[in-house]
Amino acid sequence: MNPVDLITKKRDGGEHTPEELGFLVRGMVNDSIPDYQLAAWAMAVYFRGMSDAEATQLTLAMAASGDTLDLHDAVAPGVLIVDKHSSGGVGDKTTLAVGPIVAACGLPVGKMSGRGLSFSGGTIDKLESIRGWSPELSEDRFRRQLREIGLVIAGQTADLAPADKRLYALRDVTGTVPSLPLIAASIMSKKLAAGADAIVLDVKCGRGAFMEHLDEARALARLMVAIGTGAGRQVTGLITGMEQPLGHAVGNGLEVREAIETLHGHGPADFQELVERVAAEMLLLGDPAYHSLAAAQAQVQEAIATGTGLEKLAAFVAAQGGETEQIYHPERLPVAPVQQTLSAEEAGFVHRIDAREVGLAVVEMGGGRKKKGDAIDFGVGVVCQAKVGDRVAVGDPLCTVYAANEFSAHTAIVRLRAAWLVEAAPSNPLPVVLDRIASG
Ligand code: URA
Repeated sequence: MNPVDLITKKRDGGEHTPEELGFLVRGMVNDSIPDYQLAAWAMAVYFRGMSDAEATQLTLAMAASGDTLDLHDAVAPGVLIVDKHSSGGVGDKTTLAVGPIVAACGLPVGKMSGRGLSFSGGTIDKLESIRGWSPELSEDRFRRQLREIGLVIAGQTADLAPADKRLYALRDVTGTVPSLPLIAASIMSKKLAAGADAIVLDVKCGRGAFMEHLDEARALARLMVAIGTGAGRQVTGLITGMEQPLGHAVGNGLEVREAIETLHGHGPADFQELVERVAAEMLLLGDPAYHSLAAAQAQVQEAIATGTGLEKLAAFVAAQGGETEQIYHPERLPVAPVQQTLSAEEAGFVHRIDAREVGLAVVEMGGGRKKKGDAIDFGVGVVCQAKVGDRVAVGDPLCTVYAANEFSAHTAIVRLRAAWLVEAAPSNPLPVVLDRIASG
């Protein structure tokens, strides 16, 4: 087979056979297909799309491109391994609160998470704001921690879905991230290889997500649910709002702080609602004891009220080398030295916050990477005090910028001024969960 023939076939709208997709995936792993041909192929897929059958075959081939994990020996007999995955968004620190809550409710969570991508943050970068915490775990240690603590969050290993690792890095720099079948194959190949029996997908939709429109987000959720179900897993897809940043905090250390507040039950309303819903959906999928979402949600609220979720976060952080002192005293997490506030110039109601601009402003201040390998400043970020639906008077804070120096803070404030739209007419808060798509 010749890669050029596969590029031209896709460019002209053709449908790949499973053998062709297998050839491409092998070429990703053994480097027999060079970057420029893979990138050209990814661009052809971006424009031409894929049938569901092609996307499923691509996912299965990518999932089988390296090691696959079976974690059942690390949990009690009959217990399901439940995972969650977000398609990426601004201020999305959901895993930091959901993982500990679900584990505190007795369902083990062993997760591989990623780093930031473009304007969207990543769980591993956020957790690295905690002094000493490490995502590097041997497979043995992963299993032991899952057995003993019930919660593990590790970085993606090179051996798990290596085809995705190569393709993802190329997509990131060739404008081919927002392709529905490529996102579905990327996410689901990792979830299948990591051995989850049941998966809750949090598909973000809006300006701060890779899928901006509800119909695209629905199509992505449907495709991922179909791929997972076809591979014998139970999958629930939630489509959740990312038109504005999630919660108040955007930026690594600030987000860990907000996740801790949420485990105390004092999170921002939209974030608290999402955390409780995702956690409840995970319990409902993974634990047959729950017969309804309401029952699962009651258990989640108890884990928050009794503090067992917070205790689980501390135990997990300690097990991965982190200092729990920052969990019990979140004011000791990194905070940038310069703070400037963007104030409302007109009285009225917040109608829009451009989440993507907020995410990009944080990347620009050093909270994300502009190129591979850039160091992260864990203390920088934006705290959005005024959210869509809020009433503001002249001079009220819209957001506070946390920056390394005055120049960087000022640049971010100038950029963010256009991100808030305040108008005289009242506006409504935005919905958190937009739709739900389940297996079967
Ligand atoms: N998250 C992933 O893991 N892959 C994508 O392609 C996009 C978001």
